[in-house]
Amino acid sequence: MNTQLPYSQACENNKGPILAKLRNIFSASGTVLEIGTGTGQHAEHFASALPHLRWQPTDHPRAAHLATARLAQAALPNIHPILELDVGTAPWPVQSFRWAFSANTAHIMAREEVEQMFQGIGAHLQSDGAFCLYGPFRHQGEFTSESNRAFDQSLKANAPHMGIRDIEALAELAGQVGLAMQADIAMPANNELLVFTRRV
Ligand SMILES: C[S@@+](CC[C@H](N)C(=O)[O-])C[C@H]1O[C@@H](n2cnc3c(N)ncnc32)[C@H](O)[C@@H]1O
Repeated sequence: MNTQLPYSQACENNKGPILAKLRNIFSASGTVLEIGTGTGQHAEHFASALPHLRWQPTDHPRAAHLATARLAQAALPNIHPILELDVGTAPWPVQSFRWAFSANTAHIMAREEVEQMFQGIGAHLQSDGAFCLYGPFRHQGEFTSESNRAFDQSLKANAPHMGIRDIEALAELAGQVGLAMQADIAMPANNELLVFTRRV
């Protein structure tokens, strides 16, 4: 590990379990649009392990610089330079993409931005693609663990617009843009991987 680079221990912990699922979901070639790339650890790990994919990292303009050095150092042929993409600023600076991935973003974005994330993905996701959203979620208003309840409280104390989202509300947002939640995969540490595909 290069400690000079922005680093997330959570990414180190979850990248293996997430990859094990993405390997099956993103099984065919295509571009993956990643929203909220953060440190770039996920982009590097997944693009390296899944060379049939072209990985397009993106992040909000205030954060896109965080991954630059790591991704330059990785120098993987299937990672594009990071794009500045604020989900709330239309139009998104992208073409259509087959796959989309985002980790630990829905509880950081304001509700309106989560809605805009689904709108952008709904507008650009190819018909045979999928959107994978990883993180902690609530079910029917209930937290799935005490640690997630405490995490939600700390988020809201930090910034009132943040908070763990209800899976039912996300399914509703998906439905509004022609997507459907096709799977809810239990992941370690009380996280989940939600898989959205085009409604048929
Ligand atoms: C907790 S970090 C997660 C980073 C990384 N995906 C991970 O799992 O470690 C949340 C990310 O969401 C991004 N983000 C927040 N608001 C955003 C917005 N409006 N548009 C795009 N990205 C946003 C932040 O810049 C940050 O990279």
